[in-house]
Amino acid sequence: KPIVLSGCQPSGGLTIGNYFGAIRNWTKLQQENECLFMLVDLHAITVRQEPELLRERIYDGLALYLACGLDPEKSAVFVQSHVPEHAQLAWALNCYTQMGELSRMTQYKDKSAKNVNNINVGLFDYPVLMAADVLLYQANKVPVGNDQKQHLELTRDIADRFNNLYGDTFVVPDPFIPEVGARIMSLQEPTKKMSKSDDNPNNYVLMLEEPKKIEKKIKRAMTDSDEQARIYFDPEEKAGVSNLLTLLSCATGESVESLVPQYEDKMYGHLKKDVAEAVVNLLEPIQTRYHELRKDEAALRQIMAIGAEKASVRAAETLKTVYDRIGLIAKP
Ligand code: AQP
Repeated sequence: KPIVLSGCQPSGGLTIGNYFGAIRNWTKLQQENECLFMLVDLHAITVRQEPELLRERIYDGLALYLACGLDPEKSAVFVQSHVPEHAQLAWALNCYTQMGELSRMTQYKDKSAKNVNNINVGLFDYPVLMAADVLLYQANKVPVGNDQKQHLELTRDIADRFNNLYGDTFVVPDPFIPEVGARIMSLQEPTKKMSKSDDNPNNYVLMLEEPKKIEKKIKRAMTDSDEQARIYFDPEEKAGVSNLLTLLSCATGESVESLVPQYEDKMYGHLKKDVAEAVVNLLEPIQTRYHELRKDEAALRQIMAIGAEKASVRAAETLKTVYDRIGLIAKP
């Protein structure tokens, strides 16, 4: 079976961008692949986190993964830091990655511009840790949103480089990017992507947000000043409207092409109302399941432990091979 690996950072509540771009596709991939899904807590600390809040968010994230349909019986569902090989392989791969490659990463450029007081080495090195996450499990497919495409290309380059030096060691992974929903945009600034760590909460919809609040945020979404209020899909000219159409398509399963004619004589307000309703309908059952699961922290801890154990087997094997290839001696 092909191996699939992906993860989200517990750096805030997960957004509908994280859901449509990534998590929703994970649940589908579970049927025909061997899947590993993580909460990447080591990635989250590249930006300053409040310790108590981070801990809570890791539990929240796990309960939400399960509520979305990730099945710990089928997949390894775990927390990145529980498998120390991620950090160990990242160190080794650091020695096969060039400074120039990392300084070209757009996420680093964006995040360092936003966090001028904390441009730490971890933020710079983030893509190497991500390469380690993927290569450790010999993953074939990595379901991600558009923003992670560049990091995955770097992962492929690192894998190729290592394989060329030492012989086949790593599977070179392919990105798996959804056709619709790969880049959900900010509600108030629809030319930038929706992000859970955005300073303005009106820019995102959290998966666990109250329905009333979701409605309000979507109804206030930025559109444009087209006097005729035409509704069609053009992310350049009509970024806000196109984002709303994408959200409606993701939440209902109807294609954007079939949705557009339905809004021929309608106003932006109609579209917003329908998007809000569809998103709330989609999220409500997930939220109900989440609240049920989140109550039992002991059960969540047990799921984390089992997931980490499953993941560790493969991780240890890869790390051992890597150490051996580069000339380290296995602990006698
Ligand atoms: N706006 C988005 N549209 C579609 N997919 C998205 N993803 C993130 N934002 C969108 C995808 O969600 C997965 C998990 O992302 P992450 O938590 O690892 O970090 P990120 O990509 O940096 O996402 P955020 O929400 O913007 O987090 P912060 O604000 O903490 O940096 C990935 O597959 C990602 O592509």
